[in-house]
Amino acid sequence: MLNVKVHSKFEEIVKKTEPFLLSYPGNWPAFNFSPFGVEIPKENRFSCIKQGHAMFFDLLHALDGLAFGPMGMPMDKWVFFDCGEMPGGIFGLGVRASALNDSALAEYKIDKNYKGLIPVSMYVSIPMVVKDVWFGHNLSSANRVLKDKMPGLGLLTKALALKAFNIKTILGATQWDSKALEIHLQLADMEIESSYTPAHSFKNTMTYKSIYSDEIIISALSGNKRDATKYDFLYPSEDENFSIKVQDRIESGERFKIVGRPINENGKIVYPIKAII
Ligand SMILES: CC(C)(COP(=O)(O)OP(=O)(O)OC[C@H]1O[C@@H](n2cnc3c(N)ncnc32)[C@H](O)[C@@H]1OP(=O)(O)O)[C@@H](O)C(=O)NCCC(=O)NCCS
Repeated sequence: MLNVKVHSKFEEIVKKTEPFLLSYPGNWPAFNFSPFGVEIPKENRFSCIKQGHAMFFDLLHALDGLAFGPMGMPMDKWVFFDCGEMPGGIFGLGVRASALNDSALAEYKIDKNYKGLIPVSMYVSIPMVVKDVWFGHNLSSANRVLKDKMPGLGLLTKALALKAFNIKTILGATQWDSKALEIHLQLADMEIESSYTPAHSFKNTMTYKSIYSDEIIISALSGNKRDATKYDFLYPSEDENFSIKVQDRIESGERFKIVGRPINENGKIVYPIKAII
């Protein structure tokens, strides 16, 4: 049960789902197993070095595939293990197999006899070398394939994960046309570290930094949209040349942040940007 006041759609999701956390048990003392009162039951605290959870690992891998496969970025299972589960953790929400319709079950390629927990969302985060700074590695939601959609599933998952991992500062990498920016920007401003990132498989990727607190997270779940009221310019989501020009400015010492949710301008997505002085 949530112990903070949030929009009813998030309360509904908490009622319909079960939280889980997967990691190396040596990391567990660092976690909050009751983020905002949503208790992660002992049986849903999974060790990544136990063989008994083999089916659940496959289901997480399937969830990643159904979220990132269509955009050509599915992860290999060893990447999950080396770059998520061991150094950091995976927090997510799941439902029992009986709650899913046949077409959703088919997406997970599950044996019909499986009765256990099926992850419908997850947030993977990894601590960075710098003290108290994390990297947001993966946010996935199965809403696209669920018959009974859960509006707000992706946002609630990231919000609870931030609290479960005790994250205050996060860096992340995301593509300028990613729908997840709706979620990241509903939570907080994003300070742009790079606007164009050739080191990534997708060059038109930005890296960012966001700062969180309980107040910020609870406000993001209030139902009020974090729309920008003042900004210096609008950043087009699909113009790689624009990203390169902003990257040149960043490399010359300028700093920028995205200060509100994406804006739909005549069918094109743009972002409200402020220069940091
Ligand atoms: C992006 C993703 C996590 C969103 O999950 P979700 O469960 O649909 O998200 P939510 O329901 O919490 O939506 C949060 C907000 O984003 C909006 N949104 C979600 N998907 C959207 C889309 N495809 N187009 C426009 N807006 C979208 C919702 O309308 C909602 O807005 P609201 O607060 O005004 O109601 C999910 O689609 C996904 O897994 N995508 C593939 C993987 C990915 O891109 N991950 C992010 C990498 S950084």
